[in-house]
Amino acid sequence: MKFLLLMLLPTISWAKLPSKEFQFQKSLSMVLANSTKPDVKPGMVVASPSRSNPNYYFDWVRDTALTKRALIDYYELTKDPKIKQMIFTWVDAETYRQTLPTLSGLGEPKYEIDGSGYTGPWGRPQNDGPALRAISMIKFARLLLKNGEQDYIIKKLYYSVLPAESPIKRDLEYVAHHWSEHSFDLWEEEKGMHFYTLLAQYTALEEGAKLAREFSDEFAADFYELQAERIGRKLKSDFFNERIGIVVTTEKSAPLGYKNSGIDVAPLLALLHTSPYQKLIPLNDAHVLKYIEVLTATFGEIYDINKKYADLGVSIGRYPEDRYDGYETSKLGNPWFLSTLALGEYFCLLKTQLAENGKLTKNLAKKLTDITEAQFKRALYHSDRTGGMSEQFNHRTGIMQGATELTWSHNAFMTAMMRCGLIIKKN
Ligand code: NOJ
Ligand code: NOJ
Repeated sequence: MKFLLLMLLPTISWAKLPSKEFQFQKSLSMVLANSTKPDVKPGMVVASPSRSNPNYYFDWVRDTALTKRALIDYYELTKDPKIKQMIFTWVDAETYRQTLPTLSGLGEPKYEIDGSGYTGPWGRPQNDGPALRAISMIKFARLLLKNGEQDYIIKKLYYSVLPAESPIKRDLEYVAHHWSEHSFDLWEEEKGMHFYTLLAQYTALEEGAKLAREFSDEFAADFYELQAERIGRKLKSDFFNERIGIVVTTEKSAPLGYKNSGIDVAPLLALLHTSPYQKLIPLNDAHVLKYIEVLTATFGEIYDINKKYADLGVSIGRYPEDRYDGYETSKLGNPWFLSTLALGEYFCLLKTQLAENGKLTKNLAKKLTDITEAQFKRALYHSDRTGGMSEQFNHRTGIMQGATELTWSHNAFMTAMMRCGLIIKKN
């Protein structure tokens, strides 16, 4: 029945859309533009150039860590020295801001463009930030190691001195000592224990422990590993759910009154943002598959635009009860580019994982590729013809809204392209 209905819907020709390659270049240039604003401290990134309605002219630790992860991946592919230089500048900026006093220590989510912590009322702390930053910096350290550049690591990224002075170590110490405390979720709304935050923390500590051991910081490595094991046990005992697969938040201490389903795109983002490192919860785990099915069906149902075209993928938002429309919190929320692209990226990572385990048939490979393509197509259909991407697109009209040229929308596009093998390695 569902299939028959779909057949009756119109389709969108690729010829009417910007190509994926064009969008990649545009996204790269927007990421670079938002990372090099003349009035912003070098190395810091604005979440969006929008300074009012909404004002996103700040640096969020989370957004920036994910942006730099995309640039580090891009550097890995291209070995572009300009990008490498930008990463060095970022490391210096993070090292600087880690030393500044803030209202919630390293858990401070949002910073002014001069590098100082935001002091207005906000959902703080948000403890995913230091974990994501550590994951990105460790990835950079790994690339440098491969290149024989140990000196930079020992000087600037990781050394064993306590209290910690190097940025990776500072973040790992913070994560190892604070992971069991409640913090605000990545949507900055609800306080409790979150799948997203915990999986990022688990991964940072696991990867951090390996790095620590390689640099003869054995005692720290043991400690990070021990904490990671404890997080791993908590993730598996508290967040798996037979009905919806994975629950987003437990132990809510400051709940958002209207968020009850437990369904959220955040666990999907967690799996992507900790890939390819964490093996605790594989992409084809039965709970993950159930969760993806529920997530897709839920958003497929609530947004009108999901019922209009046969060949565009599912528009995905943050969570079904969302009321933040990009400007204010009172209406039905909308699909987001980064969530919609995440679903596509998931299916190509799943494809890679199944292939590695010898479980990929030709038929399945084609199906997974088709889903990924449909998600890209969906995103390109709602971006503007010049490749502009805001935070959201309207669930009824499909027109973009919320913060313009959101850095995270653009880095999500870049990451999905690179991880789906659509950007070819030079040399
Ligand atoms: C801004 C936050 O960043 C967003 O996640 C939230 O939904 C709105 N404020 C409303 O609380
Ligand atoms: C709102 C989102 O909810 C949050 O995750 C993000 O960090 C900020 N906007 C900045 O993009």
